[in-house]
Amino acid sequence: MNGWVLYNETSEILRAESFELNRFRQVADQCGIELTVISPEQIDLVVTRDGRQSVLLDGKEVSLPDFLLPRMGAATTYFALAVIRHLERLGVQTFNSSQSIETVRDKLFTHQILAQSNLPVAKTMLAKFPVDVESVEKHLGLPVVVKTISGSQGTGVFLCESREHFEDLMQLVHATKSNVNIIIQEFVASSRGRDLRVLVVGGKAIACMKRSSNDGSFKANFTRGGSVEMFELTPEIEWLSSEASRLLGLDIAGIDLLFDGEHYKICEANSSPGFRGMESCVEVNVPEHIFSFICVRLGQLDKLPRVARVSNENTDIQASEQRAADDLA
Ligand SMILES: Nc1ncnc2c1ncn2[C@@H]1O[C@H](COP(=O)(O)OP(=O)(O)O)[C@@H](O)[C@H]1O
Ligand SMILES: [Mg+2]
Repeated sequence: MNGWVLYNETSEILRAESFELNRFRQVADQCGIELTVISPEQIDLVVTRDGRQSVLLDGKEVSLPDFLLPRMGAATTYFALAVIRHLERLGVQTFNSSQSIETVRDKLFTHQILAQSNLPVAKTMLAKFPVDVESVEKHLGLPVVVKTISGSQGTGVFLCESREHFEDLMQLVHATKSNVNIIIQEFVASSRGRDLRVLVVGGKAIACMKRSSNDGSFKANFTRGGSVEMFELTPEIEWLSSEASRLLGLDIAGIDLLFDGEHYKICEANSSPGFRGMESCVEVNVPEHIFSFICVRLGQLDKLPRVARVSNENTDIQASEQRAADDLA
């Protein structure tokens, strides 16, 4: 079984991925999966009716991989998306699909899909310039959170505590680029400086951690230097994160949840979640879960990673003990 990981080392946003790439390589080796890391620029797209069994990699014809693991998340460029679509058309299984990657790259679209199915999301508006500050204040209150439509690691996210601050920021944005797409969101105050990250693989929530900022920022991103700790996967958290992933079409997802009193609001979905923080505080082997899922989806059950099999054995033992106990009862 062989797979390609789509990743672009020259992209500044993506360089932080090297931990994940090493972990993928390590676990792939153990499972007998041949993994090749490629960058979109190495592929030449030749769209034709023939030659459906190969693509050009570094100018040479190579046979298609069994699966593709895109790892560019919100930094997926048009070119990268075209490469993913091309491989999908040629029959390569991709995790995640081009469509789901494109969907969650757009934070407004993500919210529209989730809200349509009644999942809890922060009230969100698409900015229309010049911004009607009064109307925004009426609908969302203050403070408000201003975000670029696409982004990651907290870089395009701002908190405007006052009306003046919000007005100034909107003027600056408008003056810099008048056709920019940004969203304005209600500030979920009980989540200030903390949130939850849930990892979902193949529809199952596999791990959850709480992230807290250490520098007084309202943003809790791990890559900003926040601290992380394990958090219990309650039924509510499991339902919200697995249902959000399903509605967005993500096979592999990092779902961010904001604390909203006793409950949660879905903040965003990431299509190629990092897991350095998660593996540091939760006992979970993320690549193993991902490769197990891929094995199932490729019909290669004999390649299932060892841990997945061990836990099955455990379940079997527990089940047989349970049956024995039932017999006694
Ligand atoms: N509406 C909000 N209310 C409170 N905190 C928020 C809100 N939106 C975002 N945050 C905080 O900012 C962080 C980054 O926002 P997010 O939309 O996830 O952007 P990014 O894609 O850059 O991670 C979140 O993890 C959360 O801690
Ligand atoms: Mg986020």
